[in-house]
Amino acid sequence: MKRIGLTQFLVEEHRQHGNVPSELRLLLEVVARACKSIGHAVGKGALAGVLGSAGSENVQGEVQKKLDVISNEILLEANEWGGHLAAMASEEMETIHPIPNRYPMGEYLLLFDPLDGSSNIDVNSSIGTIFSVLKAPEGMSTPTEQDFLQPGAKQVAAGYALYGPQTILVLTCGHGVSCFTLDREMGAWKLTARDIKIPNETREFAINTSNARHWYPPVSRYINELVAGTTGPRDKDFNMRWIASMVTDVHRVLSRGGIFMYPADKREPDKPGKLRLMYEANPIAFIVEQAGGAATNGHQRILDVQPEKLHQRVAVFLGSKDEVERVTSYHLE
Ligand code: AHG
Ligand code: MN
Ligand code: MN
Repeated sequence: MKRIGLTQFLVEEHRQHGNVPSELRLLLEVVARACKSIGHAVGKGALAGVLGSAGSENVQGEVQKKLDVISNEILLEANEWGGHLAAMASEEMETIHPIPNRYPMGEYLLLFDPLDGSSNIDVNSSIGTIFSVLKAPEGMSTPTEQDFLQPGAKQVAAGYALYGPQTILVLTCGHGVSCFTLDREMGAWKLTARDIKIPNETREFAINTSNARHWYPPVSRYINELVAGTTGPRDKDFNMRWIASMVTDVHRVLSRGGIFMYPADKREPDKPGKLRLMYEANPIAFIVEQAGGAATNGHQRILDVQPEKLHQRVAVFLGSKDEVERVTSYHLE
């Protein structure tokens, strides 16, 4: 069976919807190529000496793994020279990375979580890369952090690569969600699914239940009802999965439905949850909505949250629409 590649897909997408001008296409091709390199490093593991800790901490006080640092560098290097970007921002860097003066400056801003699910690296479980693309504000000359603080609804594209048994790339440019699989022998991304839709009917949920004692009442109520199964108000049994890599958990939700949650809890009241709005929640929320699902922080649509800080955290409830609406309604009661 003949499958089309990423470039042909993007050219045809633009022909149909006018949403992927050549600068954006170049950007997405470069990001996809960088993900290929990251996937290669991930696959080499101990053979390339890339496992283990880097012996440093990121701005959020998290210990960096070697692959966090390597993936960040791969993405920076790949995206500097093309002339399509004005600046980049990363979970692993304290502040933004403007394009060096020796290169032309483009009109897009790129944000990424270079390696998501870092705790899975050394145990050889699935991990990923998440990215988000914004347009630089009109009239911007020297990019600042402020230019990045746009609500997720302004994203022009978002995606993730998942380094699992297969290496895949899931992408939206605002007209549905497509999936590409890396043909490892050919070194090429091939379209393997388009118009992905999240099933609305689900019996599966994902949350780190070790935090149960810290949850707020709406979350406890919702989870208690799921866990009660046929003996509770939901009158059906639910199953639970938690991979501890958002990309991987979300990809399961995209594939067969479900709800994924990382709520705010009582431990650190000024930190709403663990996940980062700009690098994790926004791009994933864009994909989930494009796939017919929903994504909220318990109170409002994630894509409507006005960011105040680059590394801001946000509570996350996403996946099959009815479930997300239900747990959100418990917060609003
Ligand atoms: P990262 O590796 O980029 O720091 O992200 C890890 C995130 C997310 O991918 C995952 O869902 C969550 O942290 C897991 O958190 P717990 O360790 O609390 O389960
Ligand atoms: Mn992450
Ligand atoms: Mn990360």
